[in-house]
Amino acid sequence: AQRKQIDKVLALFQLTREQLVGVRDKMRTELEYGLKKETHALATVKMLPTYVYGMPDGTEKGKFLALDLGGTNFRVLLVKIRSGRRSVRMYNKIFAIPLEIMQGTGEELFDHIVQCIADFLDYMGLKGARLPLGFTFSFPCRQTCIDKGTLVGWTKGFKATDCEGEDVVDMLREAIKRRNEFDLDIVAIVNDTVGTMMTCGYEDPNCEIGLIAGTGSNVCYMEEMRNIELVEGDEGRMCINTEWGGFGDNGCLDDICTQYDKEVDEGSLNSGKQRYEKMTSGMYLGEIVRQILIDLTRQGLLFRGQISERLRTRGIFETKFLSQIESDRLALLQVRRILQQLGLDSTCEDSIVVKEVCGAVSRRAAQLCGAGMAAIVEKRRQDQGLEHFKVTVGVDGTLYKLHPHFSRILQETVRELAPRCDVTFMLSEDGSGKGAALITAVAKRLQQQRK
Ligand code: BG6
Ligand code: GLC
Repeated sequence: AQRKQIDKVLALFQLTREQLVGVRDKMRTELEYGLKKETHALATVKMLPTYVYGMPDGTEKGKFLALDLGGTNFRVLLVKIRSGRRSVRMYNKIFAIPLEIMQGTGEELFDHIVQCIADFLDYMGLKGARLPLGFTFSFPCRQTCIDKGTLVGWTKGFKATDCEGEDVVDMLREAIKRRNEFDLDIVAIVNDTVGTMMTCGYEDPNCEIGLIAGTGSNVCYMEEMRNIELVEGDEGRMCINTEWGGFGDNGCLDDICTQYDKEVDEGSLNSGKQRYEKMTSGMYLGEIVRQILIDLTRQGLLFRGQISERLRTRGIFETKFLSQIESDRLALLQVRRILQQLGLDSTCEDSIVVKEVCGAVSRRAAQLCGAGMAAIVEKRRQDQGLEHFKVTVGVDGTLYKLHPHFSRILQETVRELAPRCDVTFMLSEDGSGKGAALITAVAKRLQQQRK
């Protein structure tokens, strides 16, 4: 009887092929809405133009600073690009962003960022150098050119005040001025998906899609200019930052949403927003698991029916723990040990159930992400009138990198739902800072040509 109750909960996370096809098709509709003038304002998938028109061609060169803000780590980087040989050298430093800064005022956040840049310049012996800077800023921004970006709204764990609706490049410039210690030439603001696509595109010319499956979930891809109604011109292509994390914010995923998803949403910083992201990305999967475990415990099916203080604590299941628990090489005893580390006292049976719950949640995440990706590649295939479409997707993010099954299930789902597309996933080894530097190099060259 107990088994039946557990299976009933797990079944909520098992999507049928029809359901996944439905997700793919709804995603496709939203992508089209986001590109069209008439429907853009209503679209949940924002489809933001990035003013990145093409991939690096190997002629880029120079020394650049890059910032990488919005993933697990905040990084400041120095990137040296040599032309011709496609050789890039990078130096970087990771800095912490304390919670009170992530959720303090905008001024405090940008002052902190500039403080980190100052430390880095000091550390590299570059004090006083005026370098061009590319800013990877992994949040939705409305752009009208490569070096302006108005924050549409914070996502993930950020909630600094007085930033939404503001140009974050201006905010960075002002913080640099306030410090009055060095001058930087901010040339480009880049989403992490775009930076990742560029990083991978530098090695593989077939790469024209960027995917992040990390703290958040998002995709960018090269779109035909003629399809982008919000930008003048019909020639060539431009990269679109889809911000697909917002998919479902109009309720179109409610049929597959569980009570646990609703609880996670309600407990988040941005309730009602980023519904697809909350079903597919690292910041939330552990929270879904926790909600299920609480419910199973309440039903007397786990932890001897005792909901401990630990289990009530938000954020205990980080991606790295989920990944460890689901590793096939791990004996159950080791699963129990991990749970113990998390402060959860489990029996052997408990640990089996916990592992099953993690598996169900992460499997659904990978499948949903795959259904979304199938919509993108199918659109690109059809737009180009191709029978078969071969493409490379540059990928980054801790969920993709650490989880033992996510990438495989994602790929299987894409194959199943977009059978005419041959999709290769290429892991970005260098983060998105390298891509941001490449974009900065191209923008800088164009800037100088115009002068
Ligand atoms: C990093 C990129 O490697 O991956 C970042 O440099 C990106 O730009 C990040 O945001 C995404 O992964 P996570 O898991 O850190 O959110
Ligand atoms: C969130 C952000 C998006 C970013 C993604 C991955 O969805 O809104 O801009 O690309 O996380 O970091």
